Amino acid sequence: MLTDFRYLEQAEQELTGSGFALKEHEPEMWKTVGDLLEVGNGFIPRRRYRQELRWGFEGDHLVEKDYRFLSERARGIRLIPREGLLAEMRSIKSPEELMLIKKAVSVTDEAWGRVWPQIKPGLTETEVAALFEYEQRRLGASGASFETIVASGPRSALPHGIAGQRLLQAGDLLVLDGGAVVDGYCSDFTRTIVVGGELREQKQQELYDLVLAAQEATLSGLKPGITGREGDALGRRVIEEAGYGSYFRHGLGHSLGLAIHEEPRLSPRTETVLAQGMVLTVEPGIYLPGWGGIRIEDVVVITESGCEDLTGSEKRLT
Ligand code: GLY
Ligand code: MN
Ligand code: MN
Repeated sequence: MLTDFRYLEQAEQELTGSGFALKEHEPEMWKTVGDLLEVGNGFIPRRRYRQELRWGFEGDHLVEKDYRFLSERARGIRLIPREGLLAEMRSIKSPEELMLIKKAVSVTDEAWGRVWPQIKPGLTETEVAALFEYEQRRLGASGASFETIVASGPRSALPHGIAGQRLLQAGDLLVLDGGAVVDGYCSDFTRTIVVGGELREQKQQELYDLVLAAQEATLSGLKPGITGREGDALGRRVIEEAGYGSYFRHGLGHSLGLAIHEEPRLSPRTETVLAQGMVLTVEPGIYLPGWGGIRIEDVVVITESGCEDLTGSEKRLT
């Protein structure tokens, strides 16, 4: 493990018992990596390796400039890009990881429970996002797992509407999508509510119920042995059959853990087979441009025969 002097002490503590060696890198990290790639530097003794040496790297993360630098240094070593190698290793969570994800999920649930009763006409989206992040931190989060989305009124039709200065009005749909980081692990959560207590129109309730039905169909159908594509279809089918398929264009869900988006996905393009210990979001949505949008997102873990919903917040339209 390479790190710079700022993190040495903490890294040493965290690596205790891990079997990893720790080394401080030079200000230019890739120079240190390049030195380590040189045969005969003590790290790779010359004599012991007669056959070709091969180093794997994450092809979806190393930028071209660093790759060029490394290939010039790494004489006699073949650099082999392996996209998704670590992603795959990370897809099944250990019991310790699962415990931390559950902690992050419950911090988010609790924060939402404190925040939603405070949401009222006249607040800005940014104020709601700030309240939510503040409560998550008070409950032990080190921060937000991504920039909090608060999208209200017609802006709720933006699947990733970053919170802005719009003033909430009674009858608005409000989508809040946020999450916490607790001990390095992420949660991800979305609820849609109506501001000010009164629906503006019955269609809000109808579409909400449709999105909820899509989520519930997914929660009762997810299990080990099906593919990410089949998992996606569990919810997508419900929305398509009601005629709103073209208003639900993102994947139904994704894994998460150390990062907010991990593999595998629940999407029409995912052939990965789901397995016990994978953690996934289930987040169907409907977005009608100019009118508004609805999304409901929970985090689940795949169990021996189905899935367990880790998110506990209320799901009736509030
Ligand atoms: N917060 C981004 C997502 O739900 O995937
Ligand atoms: Mn989310
Ligand atoms: Mn998500």
